[in-house]
Amino acid sequence: MKEIYSFDAVKAENFTGTLLDTLNKMALAFMISIGHRSGLFDTMSHMDFATSLQIAGQANLNERYVREWLCALVTGAIVEYEAESKAYRLPAEHAAFLTRQAGADNIGVFMQYAAVMGEVEDEILKCFQEGGGVPYSKYHRFHEVMAEDSGQSVLSSLESHILPLVPGLTDKLNAGIKMLDVGCGSGRIINKLALLFPQSQFTGMDLSSEAIFNAKAETSQLGLQNVEFIIKDLSDFHDTAPVEQYDLITTFDAIHDQGKPLNVLKGIQRALKQDGIYLMQDISGTSNLEEDKNHPIGPFLYTVSSMHCMTVSLAQNGEGLGAMWGEAMTKEYLKRAGFSSIEKNKLTHDIQNNWYVVKK
Ligand SMILES: C[S@@+](CC[C@H](N)C(=O)[O-])C[C@H]1O[C@@H](n2cnc3c(N)ncnc32)[C@H](O)[C@@H]1O
Repeated sequence: MKEIYSFDAVKAENFTGTLLDTLNKMALAFMISIGHRSGLFDTMSHMDFATSLQIAGQANLNERYVREWLCALVTGAIVEYEAESKAYRLPAEHAAFLTRQAGADNIGVFMQYAAVMGEVEDEILKCFQEGGGVPYSKYHRFHEVMAEDSGQSVLSSLESHILPLVPGLTDKLNAGIKMLDVGCGSGRIINKLALLFPQSQFTGMDLSSEAIFNAKAETSQLGLQNVEFIIKDLSDFHDTAPVEQYDLITTFDAIHDQGKPLNVLKGIQRALKQDGIYLMQDISGTSNLEEDKNHPIGPFLYTVSSMHCMTVSLAQNGEGLGAMWGEAMTKEYLKRAGFSSIEKNKLTHDIQNNWYVVKK
């Protein structure tokens, strides 16, 4: 039976504050996304206090829209305002997290997920009522935003932090090895590795023809000869994976949203050479909600999971593990796939992911 307790007026008051704050931040997420996509933050980062006309002129955008956007950001305490001259400025301390120049610190990139998710709200609601999932094809900008996301969070630290997780790996890549990236998306990581290590051979596999098209376009643009991309549904990878072919296999944020994650992991185990390494990046949940309650981006990750990761898997009649399946479950799946050595690492700049170095 539900316990009867007295209504706490202070708690209620605080909660309305939380809700109003959420409403404002939801709105700002869209404005930040537009600031990123339109290049407005980049433009403003090179300007001192300026009028909306000057900012719109520099950015080559419509002044009326730019002015309304600036008002939202002034009320959101992102942009500073000088009333007398009606001038706006993006302070350097804010530009440090909102511009392309900020590299891996550009949080504006992630704000794009608000619109990516909003686009499928009707379909998600239908799933709440009827079950099932929303397929990748319903998300018009997912692969583009994902490529930008991993381009920023993985590419920027590939040589400095990620490759060093496996001692001697850079030397092996220099000497020449075979590497496979599973669920490679738009292939930016593989293309960068192929450029850095011309002696090695790289393969990327993914379900999405759109993502593989983008990956191949970049390969051609870079003039690379040592990389191939294959469109493949990996749900049966446990049966179809080549046997002991690769020295290094990677997955970047790509296991939990598979239709059949265990089959994919079994396929990776099968495709890996005896002394090969499987390097896996996945979301840093714990598998316990009581612990994840305090995750610094818990609401964001569970929301992205509900409105993307879990549902795209369910749309494949899959398991729908969800982005926050967590470390305990990840290790259990890796063991069930036949791996015996699993080492979890954290990168200090990366609050979102765990990095597992896995051996047969
Ligand atoms: C979150 S994205 C990560 C993409 C890429 N690794 C990156 O970091 O940019 C997950 C990828 O898994 C792919 N995927 C999902 N289900 C799949 C399946 N059944 N077979 C092959 N790839 C699949 C998606 O197309 C998507 O590109």
